[in-house]
Amino acid sequence: MDIVTSTANGILTIEFNRPDKKNAITSAMYQTMADALKAAESDVGVRAILFVGKPEIFTAGNDLEDFMQSSTQGSISERPVAQFMHQLSHATKPVVAAVAGGAVGIGTTMLLHCDLVYAADNAKFSLPFAQLGLCPEFASSMLLPQLVGYPRAAEKLLLGEAFLAQEAYNMGLVSKVLPLEGLLAFAQGQAAKLAALPASSLRVTKSLMKNAQAAAIQARMMEENQHFGTMLQAGEAKEAFLAFFQKRKPDFTKFS
Ligand code: COA
Repeated sequence: MDIVTSTANGILTIEFNRPDKKNAITSAMYQTMADALKAAESDVGVRAILFVGKPEIFTAGNDLEDFMQSSTQGSISERPVAQFMHQLSHATKPVVAAVAGGAVGIGTTMLLHCDLVYAADNAKFSLPFAQLGLCPEFASSMLLPQLVGYPRAAEKLLLGEAFLAQEAYNMGLVSKVLPLEGLLAFAQGQAAKLAALPASSLRVTKSLMKNAQAAAIQARMMEENQHFGTMLQAGEAKEAFLAFFQKRKPDFTKFS
């Protein structure tokens, strides 16, 4: 199973489990996660949600092969990825992420919608949308500048270069950096603390922090999705994806 979900002691753990493909996320994986988050909303047995990956990789982001195949199938907002991000950004229960290794593309974007983000000292974040002929997604073009300031957000979103755990912490993207060996136990401990607190207090606190800009986030997601859908079918993205699988550098010089 590429996504493993389990619930114990009030914590729903969602684990990326496709290490041979660096935990790249397919439509089926998004659907599994969307369904798990949706079910968690009405499950009184779930009081906190924890995302984990593998020690060497959180996720390599969207599965590029799946992406190429689905690029012509309906609008982005109808796809499993959008259902997943909708459920995550509307989750009323606290969401914790434990990030070790690479968190590429949506692997970093999704953290902007989590509540507590813990990074191992080997964590590496990147938002390589421009490098892929694409644009930011799921409100990252709004949330990242808000969180870290425009100059640093522009660097990460325009150049798309990877940055390490300490820089992510200094920018305010993650709550704490921990040694890799201690990451999972620490994140599980934080999730357990949340699970033991009054659910109503957490629900209201979270909504007070988030609700004021929920409509703006929704609107930005729709705007980004429109661009993203168009760009996904354009030559630049096709060249970038082909280059990845052919293990070469993309050549964008023929595009204006
Ligand atoms: N989609 C589909 N397959 C992917 C993938 C992705 N996003 N990321 C990695 N894989 C596959 C590779 O094709 C390779 O498959 P193979 O063994 O059949 O050749 C396997 O996973 C291992 O990847 P590899 O690139 O050899 O691992 P690495 O440790 O050298 O590099 C990454 C890891 C994450 C830095 C690198 O795989 C990468 O840059 N992936 C693409 C990230 C990306 O652009 N994501 C999309 C964001 S929208």
